[in-house]
Amino acid sequence: MSSLRELAIRGRDLLRGLPRTDPALESRLLLQKAAGLDEIRFWALPESPVSPTVERVFLAFVRRRRAGIPLAYLTGEREFWSLTFAVSPDVLVPRPETELLVEKALAFAPRGEAVIVEIGTGSGAVAVVLAKELPRARIVAADVSRRALETARRNALRHGAAVTFVASDLFRSLGGRIPPGGADLVVSNPPYVAAAEWPTLPPEVRREPRRALVAGPTGLEFIARLIAGAGSHLKPGGRLLFEVGRGQARRALGLFDSRWDCREAFKDLRGICRVVAARRTGF
Ligand SMILES: C[S@@+](CC[C@H](N)C(=O)[O-])C[C@H]1O[C@@H](n2cnc3c(N)ncnc32)[C@H](O)[C@@H]1O
Repeated sequence: MSSLRELAIRGRDLLRGLPRTDPALESRLLLQKAAGLDEIRFWALPESPVSPTVERVFLAFVRRRRAGIPLAYLTGEREFWSLTFAVSPDVLVPRPETELLVEKALAFAPRGEAVIVEIGTGSGAVAVVLAKELPRARIVAADVSRRALETARRNALRHGAAVTFVASDLFRSLGGRIPPGGADLVVSNPPYVAAAEWPTLPPEVRREPRRALVAGPTGLEFIARLIAGAGSHLKPGGRLLFEVGRGQARRALGLFDSRWDCREAFKDLRGICRVVAARRTGF
């Protein structure tokens, strides 16, 4: 029987050459998953023998990873905001850059009993973090995908986060969930990829739900609907914040009409404008 260390090395060598991959790390994570070990137990006994069943499962993971299945779909989880979230092929794998959206949402959220709406919640990562960080806020999270909502609900349960999940095409079915006066904050990491770009995305990204990524011919279609919907569901002075793709911020800012002010874009650590925000005026 091979040891954990020997198998981890074998996996690393098999994963070498995959683009955007740390083969040693991915091999270890897949082996931990196959063997049911956390990191501490893995490093505690690297010379432990691995059963043939675990070895078979591990090598099957490595084969699927080589075939372009995202690591997070194989391990079934991904870290976001230092919390572990369940992911499945029904949801977008939460990205580190989306933490900027959370950071800005926390900066703009009124302290106290605010109503915050997330459109396109996917795994629920953003909504769950907001619920954890703002325990007095009421968080309503919508997604058009019922299967994504199942994963999101699991994540909320796992982290003890109070989030109301609603199956909804943007704001369409949120009527009774938002107070008549409007929400304080609307946040979204929307689909923003242009349809023509889809075939050019890395194969691994194309394993994620197309609907989570592609907005339409220009990539701005969902954002335009988001701005229109948020305009009717925010209270005066409420803010809309959403993530944009590289090079989209200026065009996205141009979609706000005179009912909005304080339009601004925020850069991530690489200097890329990632989050757009605007405030709903009184009229
Ligand atoms: C880019 S993903 C964001 C997922 C998650 N919030 C995150 O940041 O990891 C966009 C999400 O919008 C959802 N979506 C797509 N079209 C939608 C629509 N018309 N109404 C509501 N949600 C939609 C997708 O199912 C997907 O979960």
